[in-house]
Amino acid sequence: MSADNPSTPSDSHAVDRAMSGDDIATLYDELADRYERWGRANHLFSGPLRKRAFGDASGRVLDVACGTGTNIRYLPPTAQLVGVDISDEMVEAARAELERLRRGGTVYRMDAQELQFPDDSFDTVVSALSTCTFPDPVAALDEMARVCRPDGRVLLLEHGRSGVELVGRYQDWRADAHYEQHGCRWTQDPLAHFEGTDLTVIESETLLLGVVTIIEARPA
Ligand SMILES: C[S@@+](CC[C@H](N)C(=O)[O-])C[C@H]1O[C@@H](n2cnc3c(N)ncnc32)[C@H](O)[C@@H]1O
Repeated sequence: MSADNPSTPSDSHAVDRAMSGDDIATLYDELADRYERWGRANHLFSGPLRKRAFGDASGRVLDVACGTGTNIRYLPPTAQLVGVDISDEMVEAARAELERLRRGGTVYRMDAQELQFPDDSFDTVVSALSTCTFPDPVAALDEMARVCRPDGRVLLLEHGRSGVELVGRYQDWRADAHYEQHGCRWTQDPLAHFEGTDLTVIESETLLLGVVTIIEARPA
């Protein structure tokens, strides 16, 4: 692992080379088209989970690592949305999705580990399937805590290593290849990232053979 791209202590299967933020941006620039093409299937599969995780987000809402903007349609229409992502292509796709859905809001290219927003500037921070790709997930979670109002909420939809041993072993076996292809550590334990951060987990629910975790946290 390189010094400026810390791995996470929670990875159950470390890879030889950790990607930097620039690597991830380049990779997701290339993947953006595929994400758009698979949009319908993605909504079918993950839509109910996103609704469950983010359906009651309120006020000024920040979507961190928003990707192509998949979360947008599951956020209440009253939410004032700001999205950020490190990939230019993802940012373009999320802006197009905002327009398609005729939703107000803004999307910026920004590193989740160095959010360019003042402290306490959002009522709700949401993020989906993201801690697995952040070079430093703890830094990103601390940034989410910083920009969230002290009485606000941080809502995450995450994935990780299955508690079902057969599935978990398959994930272990494919971990390096999956990381190379998607920059995604799919054997992570998403809850373990919270230890020592400025966020306190209020509630968590694990679904789909223990692969998906919905998390509600608050600034500590
Ligand atoms: C697996 S995709 C998930 C996208 C979207 N949240 C969704 O649920 O469809 C991971 C996203 O995280 C973004 N990302 C990774 N590292 C980031 C960082 N440091 N700052 C901002 N975005 C980042 C990638 O560009 C990509 O769009």
